[in-house]
Amino acid sequence: MPQSGAGQHVFLTGANGFVASHILDILINRGYAITATVRSQAKADDIIKTHPSWKSHVEFAIVTDFTSKGPFDKIFQGARKPFDYVIHTASPLRFQVNDIQKEMIEPAEMGTTEILKAAKAYGGSSLKRFILLGSAVSVLNSFEDVSKEGKPYTEKDWNPVTAEQAIERSDPVLGYNVSKTRAEAVAWEFIKKDKPSFDLSVINPDIIIGPMLHPISGPNSINETNHFAIASFIDGTHKQIEGVTFPFYHFVDVRDVARSHVDALTNPAASNQRILLISGLISPQLVVNTIRENFPSLASRVPEGSPSQLLPPGVHPTGWDMKLSLDILAKGSESGNWNYVDLKTSVIDAVNSMLSTGVI
Ligand SMILES: NC(=O)c1ccc[n+]([C@@H]2O[C@H](COP(=O)([O-])OP(=O)(O)OC[C@H]3O[C@@H](n4cnc5c(N)ncnc54)[C@H](OP(=O)(O)O)[C@@H]3O)[C@@H](O)[C@H]2O)c1
Repeated sequence: MPQSGAGQHVFLTGANGFVASHILDILINRGYAITATVRSQAKADDIIKTHPSWKSHVEFAIVTDFTSKGPFDKIFQGARKPFDYVIHTASPLRFQVNDIQKEMIEPAEMGTTEILKAAKAYGGSSLKRFILLGSAVSVLNSFEDVSKEGKPYTEKDWNPVTAEQAIERSDPVLGYNVSKTRAEAVAWEFIKKDKPSFDLSVINPDIIIGPMLHPISGPNSINETNHFAIASFIDGTHKQIEGVTFPFYHFVDVRDVARSHVDALTNPAASNQRILLISGLISPQLVVNTIRENFPSLASRVPEGSPSQLLPPGVHPTGWDMKLSLDILAKGSESGNWNYVDLKTSVIDAVNSMLSTGVI
């Protein structure tokens, strides 16, 4: 891997997360210096315990609460070398919550607003780009009629879901969709109104699965999406496929998500763009078929379902028109092409990482 990042300093939030761990790995491989946030020193220590070779490449900063006053100011003010780029990934992604507004929407929105404010006030002229890890849920329509395939979504679409709808229905998936939609919306509003000297790229992936590099201490360390999309069919959560649905039916591998972020740092075509990231279809049946075919030793624990009924009955997911995004991704990649990791590879590699860490 060429050391294309040598001499450049990246500020990464949520470094212990599933996706951010892969971003950190690529940043280090490409020679970037990194300052990364986590919520406690113990979480920073866990990262280094898991990856001792990362120690000399990353400096940690602790940000416990995005809703506190100016939580990022001191980090920008005290940076030993000004930041060239920011990658903001930290945002709540656990569906077991008591208060959708306080635990999901506020931290997502305020985290984004606060880091943008600090970047503008204290980032200096070296700061060139702010990358936000958004989500396909701020593009798709949470109320889409899944019984018929709609017009493919594009980079221009926005989810109409509101906080009131999520709270009124006590629906954490809707709450998550609102949190990501609001976080992205405030970022674009900030760029428009506050006109910082840096630009913005937002990456909008659908369900992310794949191998795990983040610190693992037991089955609860499996990240939310690898759990609902894969591990829950192995660990006894689902004894059958019938009746099991996903909130969305498209996926992308975590390695593609991470690569797209690091490529976007220096890709002129990514400036002020939303970039959709979707590899292909995923469904409970597609996942169990892949596990059963490739891991005979797990087959007795994994429900068989109806192997040829690939999507739940009556589900016709709306597709994605990603011409613009694919063009940007290709321009940013070292090879000049953009190819996605396919579902089979992603599921196999995810299951292998669960087996090797002993969490299933
Ligand atoms: N996984 C997916 O399918 C998917 C799809 C599209 C977009 N995304 C986005 O990708 C990003 C990372 O997700 P992930 O899958 O890597 O999830 P993850 O493993 O749960 O990582 C989330 C990160 O955000 C931090 N975080 C959560 N709530 C926070 C809060 N209130 N204050 C400060 N930090 C907080 C977590 O810190 P702790 O570990 O300390 O809680 C962790 O570092 C999120 O922005 C998510 O919305 C994920």
